[in-house]
Amino acid sequence: MHFLEIKDFSKAQLRGILDSAVKRKNSRSGLAKGERDSDLPLKGKIVALVFERPSTRTRFSFEVGIRQLGGEVFTSSGGEMQLGRGETVADTARVLSRYVDAVMIRSKKRETLDEFASAATIPVINGLTNMTHPCQVVTDVMTLEENKGHLDKQHVAWVGDGNNVCASWIEAVGVLGGSLKVGCPLLLKPQKEFLDWADKHKAAVSVMTSPEEAVSDTDCVITDAWVSMHDEDVENRHNLLRAYQVNEALMKHAKKDALFMHCLPAHRNEEVTDAIMDGPHSVVFDEAENRIHAQKAILLSCFGKV
Ligand code: CP
Repeated sequence: MHFLEIKDFSKAQLRGILDSAVKRKNSRSGLAKGERDSDLPLKGKIVALVFERPSTRTRFSFEVGIRQLGGEVFTSSGGEMQLGRGETVADTARVLSRYVDAVMIRSKKRETLDEFASAATIPVINGLTNMTHPCQVVTDVMTLEENKGHLDKQHVAWVGDGNNVCASWIEAVGVLGGSLKVGCPLLLKPQKEFLDWADKHKAAVSVMTSPEEAVSDTDCVITDAWVSMHDEDVENRHNLLRAYQVNEALMKHAKKDALFMHCLPAHRNEEVTDAIMDGPHSVVFDEAENRIHAQKAILLSCFGKV
C-alpha cells in the first residue's frame, strides 16, 4: 500500500499509524540509537530512498528508522540515476520494483510521484513534493498529541506561506478533526484544491490575513521557511511574509501553554526568532526526532504491519 497523501487514509488508519509510532518510540526507551527493535519487522526487506531535492531530516530519519526495523536501506539522488538523463519515471519505477521492497521518493513535482506510484508494484512513500509533505505532518500530529492529547480537541495556527506542509496539515485536520487557522498573505494562501477539499469534507479550516487573529487562542503555532526549495521569487516573498514572523509578541496571542513547531530547516530571525525557537513553547527538536518514529510506523503500514 502506498503512502502518498494524508487524505488517502481513513481516521482509523491514521490513528493506527500514530499509535504505532508512539508505541515504537516508547519501546526504544534506553536503547542505543543503532540497536534494532526486538521484533525486527522489516527483516529481509530493502528500501530505496530517492531524492530530487536536498534533505537532512527525511534522509537520515528514514535511514535510521529502516535500520532500527531490521531492514536494509540505500539512498540516491535523482541526478545520479538515469532518471536525470531522461529515463522515464515509469520505467525507473518498474526497475526499482524488481530490486527493492519499497521506495521513498522526494520529487520536484507531484506528477513525478504520481507517475512513479502508478507504475510501481511495491509501496511508494511521498517524502515531499511541491504540493504536500505528509510524512512531516504525521510527525507534527504525533508531536502535538504527545504534549496536548488528540488532535480533534486542538486548535492549530499555521502562520506564513500556505505551502506544501500547510496543505498536508489541512488534510490532517480534515481526516482527524481539530481546527486549523491559516494566517497568510492573500497571494500565498493554500492552493485552491486543498481549500476546496477542506470545504467538501467540512474540515474546520479557515484562512485569514491577520497573523494575530490566526494565532489567537490556539494550542499550537506552526510556521515554515518563507522560501521553499521550489520557490524563486525570494525578495517578493520576504516582503510579503515579514509581518508573519513568529516572535514573542505574536506568541502572546496564543494560549499560554501553546506549542511552537517548525518542520526545519529554520531560517532563524526570518520566519521565527531565536527566542521562540529556543524558548519554552518550542518542541522543534522533539518534532525532528519524531520523524524517525512516525516514518517507522508509516513504513510498517505500507507493509500491512500496522
Ligand atoms: N522537514 C524536512 O523535510 O526536512 P529535510 O528537508 O531536511 O528533509
